[in-house]
Amino acid sequence: MNRDDDGYAERVAFYDTVYEQPERALDLAWLRRWLPQQYFGRRVLELACGSGYWTQYLAPAARAYLALDVSPGALALAGQRPGVGGVAFAAAEIEALPKPAEPFDAAFAGLWFSHLPRQRREAALAALHGCLAPGATVILLDNSEIQGGQFPVMEYDEAGNGYQRRPRHDGGESRVLKNFPTEAEFRILLAPYGAAEMALLRREHFWLLRYCLPSRH
Ligand SMILES: C[S@@+](CC[C@H](N)C(=O)[O-])C[C@H]1O[C@@H](n2cnc3c(N)ncnc32)[C@H](O)[C@@H]1O
Repeated sequence: MNRDDDGYAERVAFYDTVYEQPERALDLAWLRRWLPQQYFGRRVLELACGSGYWTQYLAPAARAYLALDVSPGALALAGQRPGVGGVAFAAAEIEALPKPAEPFDAAFAGLWFSHLPRQRREAALAALHGCLAPGATVILLDNSEIQGGQFPVMEYDEAGNGYQRRPRHDGGESRVLKNFPTEAEFRILLAPYGAAEMALLRREHFWLLRYCLPSRH
């Protein structure tokens, strides 16, 4: 995710439009059913929760839930969602989060990885895994390359990150870092952790990566 302001604070107020596009409805209906089942009774850490679209569906299933985001504006919106009464919210990046006294046994990040600069991937995953218990489940959800049809990647930086131009509600345009990772990239990134049961599911509009940390790590 870009540490620079990529315009998200301005976009957050109407961010749910991402979830209102009719062609995504089928994938989203399936995700809204499947995802909460993965977190039933778990201690969950959610990264980059944004305006809490997924928080509202996952938190009611969980035993404990911490949702992070760098944007206080986004967290304020997330706190107004139904079903988030038991959620602890924190304005933090995963790399800045102190190691929890009791590790989480599950993690979720929606539409986070695609915005994470490639050069920060290793550090972000190390920080995330440092907060998790052995055997913890991690699920990353993100846009399939179809999203790139709507907002084409117009340029790449020297690290290989792609950038889209997205319209803002004030009539301006934001330059947004957006990557579309491959399964091979995940296998390389996760190899040092001995991640088990890694599965990458590609639906039409979203991809979903699920893996478990080894029982001892
Ligand atoms: C595309 S939104 C996704 C929001 C939400 N997870 C969803 O699926 O609807 C990306 C979120 O990442 C947050 N963000 C940006 N940089 C971040 C960082 N370095 N650490 C954590 N969150 C960050 C933004 O504030 C924004 O809320």
